[in-house]
This record gives sequence, structure tokens and C-alpha cells, in this order.
Amino acid sequence: MSYYSRIIGVGSGFPKGVMTNQDFEKFLDTTDEWIRTRTGIETRFIADRSKGETTVSLAELAVQSALKHAGVQGSDIDLIIMGTVTPDTVMPCVANQLQARIGAKRAFTFDLQAACSGFLYAMSIADLYIRSGTVRNALVVGGETLSSVTDYRDRSTCVLFGDGVGAAVLTRSEDDQHRIVATKLYSDGTYGDLLCIPHGYTKVPTYSAEYREDMHKIKMQGGEVFKLATRNMVEASKEILRENKLTTADVDFFIFHQANMRIIDLCMRTLNIPVEKTWLNVAKYGNTSAATLPVCLEEAWKAGKVKPGDLILMATFGGGLTWASSLVRL
Ligand code: UT7
Repeated sequence: MSYYSRIIGVGSGFPKGVMTNQDFEKFLDTTDEWIRTRTGIETRFIADRSKGETTVSLAELAVQSALKHAGVQGSDIDLIIMGTVTPDTVMPCVANQLQARIGAKRAFTFDLQAACSGFLYAMSIADLYIRSGTVRNALVVGGETLSSVTDYRDRSTCVLFGDGVGAAVLTRSEDDQHRIVATKLYSDGTYGDLLCIPHGYTKVPTYSAEYREDMHKIKMQGGEVFKLATRNMVEASKEILRENKLTTADVDFFIFHQANMRIIDLCMRTLNIPVEKTWLNVAKYGNTSAATLPVCLEEAWKAGKVKPGDLILMATFGGGLTWASSLVRL
């Protein structure tokens, strides 16, 4: 008998506060027009820590909504994996804290760091546990409070990022018509410096003399990352299709990491995919790193753009560098 992983529920959690492009115009040498035309972003949600909005609290919202959608309880969950680079604390990790909040008493839990690729990395690991028969129900969560590591004096990065979390419930199934078909994960540490947070961890801890607050923020060489993101998401999409003897014509819906409208547009055009076959929300949320794919999936599913039985291709790219693609038969 073969086991498969089926996605049975999705959810998301966002802070209440919205930051518009016009808000940036008030303190930064930028314009709404530049941000919209160069990135496609119009608004992003920003957590207010004084009101208790953190990665854990947003993840709890996402997970509760995914559990409800799936019709399962916290106590049914065997595994929680959280993809994030902005945990509330490193120990306990976010997944531990989620476990406590949702009463997933029998689960084992851990965080993983793969930046924007965190959701697909986490989903791939959960899929392996489920297919091995070790786990029945898994929660795969991805998201951030990137505002906590964003330098609001750096116009080339701060307008891009937003906070939010997405989650999916995976369950063991024997039905090969609704399953995670394949996932491919990639990384290349030689380009790590292109997108990084240099200070604040063990190399330069916050208490050391060399620590600089501005270096505990995201640094990005945007132009280089733009080119690599486009090329690698396209190649990862082609490769997973080729290995599964499929073409873009076999795919019902495509979801690309929401970092920049121009990157998504280039990926779609290079792969010759019409715009109706994708979900776009970068205008509303900005780049929420590991949250973008599950949030797009949730919105597309709940809007009826994808339905059970559809074949979905997802691709992502982020810091590390890491990137990934996945084929899911919903
Ligand atoms: O999630 C991980 C993946 N992340 C990404 O994929 C992000 C990838 N990179 C990008 O999305 C784009 O490279 C950016 C949006 C970051 C930058 O867009 P760009 O078209 O590559 O602009 P650029 O960096 O080449 O900068 C062009 C000009 C520069 O001015 P000069 O040197 O030509 O005078 C920048 O200083 O635009 C300037 N600029 C801005 N101007 C107004 C950069 N940021 C801003 C800004 N407002 N916010």
C-alpha cells in the first residue's frame, strides 16, 4: 500500500496595520509611482509588537484558520514545521509555541530556515514523513515579521517587505488523485551575501562591541537577486515538469513567490503562461517571504480559482540562496 500527502486545509494570518506607499513618501526619498511601477506593491501589513503581533501570534491565526478549513483539531496533528527567519525566539522555536497554543500534544515540532523557500522546504519534509507512514497529519507553516529586520532608512529594501503567515494541513491518504506529486529543493550558498542579515546572531551577537543595529537588518543586492530569482524559478519549474513527464499545458494553475510583480511577469512570459492561470497578491501584501505561496493558495482556493483535482505548480526563491518548485494535485 502507498501513502500520499493531501492538502486538506489552508489559512493565513496578518497584522491589522496597513502601510501604504504614500506612508513611505512621508519619510523616505521615494514615490508611490516608483514603488508601483518597479515592484507592483501598493500596501503591506506591518505587525505592532506593542499589541502582541509577532510571528507566533500571526502563525496561530493562520494555523487556526487552516485547521478549521481542514476540519481537524490541534490534537489531531503529529508534526508541525515552521519555515521562518524571524522567529519570536530561537528557543523555544515558533513551532514549539504553536504546539502549545493549539494543544497539539502528540506532535513533534521544529522550525527551519530557508527564507522565502521555507514553506516548500517544510512541505517537502512533511510529505516525506507522511509517505513513510510515520505521520498522519502535519501542519506546514511559513511566514515572518520581516518588519523586525527591515531597515526603514534603506529605500531599496524597506518598501518591499510585509508581515504575514500562511499555513497548510497535510493528511495521509491512499488516493493518488489528490496529493503532493513532487517537490524539488535547491540551494547555493556561494551567493549567500546577495540577500542576508549580517549581525545579531552568533558571529556578531547583539551584546558584542562590533554589533551594529543597521547590520541586523536585511541587506539585498536587488538587481542580482532579481536576475537569479527569475532564472531559477523558471528552471525549477521546467525541471519538475520534465522529471514528471508533464508540460505547462498539463498544469491548471501556477503560483510564484510574490516578491516583485516584474519577476512574476517575466516567469509567466518565459514559460508562456497566460495571466489568468496565476494568483497575484503582491500589490496587497508585498513580499512576506515564506508566507507568499500558502497565502496565494488559500486565496485562489477560497475564490474558486483552483479546485480539488487541479494540478498546481508552485515556485519560490529567496535568501540562502534557496529556491524550490512543487507540483500539487489539490
Ligand atoms: O524574496 C527574495 C527575493 N527578492 C527579490 O526577488 C527582490 C529582487 N529585486 C527587486 O525586486 C528589484 O531589484 C528592486 C525592486 C529591489 C529594485 O528594482 P530595480 O529596478 O532593480 O532598481 P535598481 O536597484 O536598479 O535601482 C534603480 C534606481 C536607483 O537609482 P539610480 O542609481 O539609478 O539613481 C535606485 O537608487 O532606483 C533607485 N531606487 C529607488 N527610487 C525610489 C531604489 N529603490 C527606490 C525607491 N524609490 N524605493
